[in-house]
Amino acid sequence: MNAQAERVVESYRHRAAWMRAEARPTTPHLLSKALDGATHVTEFPCGAGHFLNSYAKAGVRVRLVDASWPMLTAATHHARETGVVELALGCHFLHQLPDLSEEDLVVVPNAALNQLTAQTTLPDVLTLLRRAVRPGTRLLLQHLTVDMLGCGFYTPTLADGHQIRDHRFRAPDGQEVTRYRRQHHTHDRSQVRIEFTYTSPGQVDHTTHVNLALPSAAEIETALTNTGWTTTHTHTRSGFREVLATARGSR
Ligand SMILES: C[S@@+](CC[C@H](N)C(=O)[O-])C[C@H]1O[C@@H](n2cnc3c(N)ncnc32)[C@H](O)[C@@H]1O
Repeated sequence: MNAQAERVVESYRHRAAWMRAEARPTTPHLLSKALDGATHVTEFPCGAGHFLNSYAKAGVRVRLVDASWPMLTAATHHARETGVVELALGCHFLHQLPDLSEEDLVVVPNAALNQLTAQTTLPDVLTLLRRAVRPGTRLLLQHLTVDMLGCGFYTPTLADGHQIRDHRFRAPDGQEVTRYRRQHHTHDRSQVRIEFTYTSPGQVDHTTHVNLALPSAAEIETALTNTGWTTTHTHTRSGFREVLATARGSR
């Protein structure tokens, strides 16, 4: 088993109940292109579900895959509310991905590539994804790179160790939650650890963290090429870089 991946996934258990309220997903510019002609779409790792509205509008069969059951439960409610008609679920780690050869598109949302790459190497992540799909399957990555402007949970220019209040949301139980965050980069800035502290009136503060690898766009392109993917489109939106790639040849 992959102990680090297990620890990461476990850290989401208590966030699952309010993940939908907390998350501020940015719909990728390339998503409509990626969905064009698709009938079977997987989001991995889906968390509480990111682009379900778009999948519902496209009328595709949605498969949500994540290693966290609490997240999958939240994602299932989310999918029902957005009107996804055909839904499949899979509780799997990256290193135990099921066969995804029916899928036309696999979406790796919201810097999940960065988080997976902090657990193993970038070529490993892309190889495991490539092995799960068939030639022709599209892959949409929404990721952070070392030279980006930052997004709703990462600010490259924020001094290491400096805490900011970055988000306020209402949890499903009605509690106002305030989120603070601070970050620490490795000396070569190839990784960042972001620490989130949540406070709500009358509750004990709660702290969690995420580790994100920050590969360059060039490193991602090289790794895609070397692991059986061909990039067809790239785009930058709201602090994320998007890559649309297609699986080449045999697995
Ligand atoms: C969408 S990602 C990143 C979310 C965002 N960057 C944040 O934490 O604010 C989070 C999801 O990835 C899942 N996850 C993390 N590592 C995983 C792994 N190795 N295999 C499967 N799922 C994983 C977690 O269970 C969680 O639901």
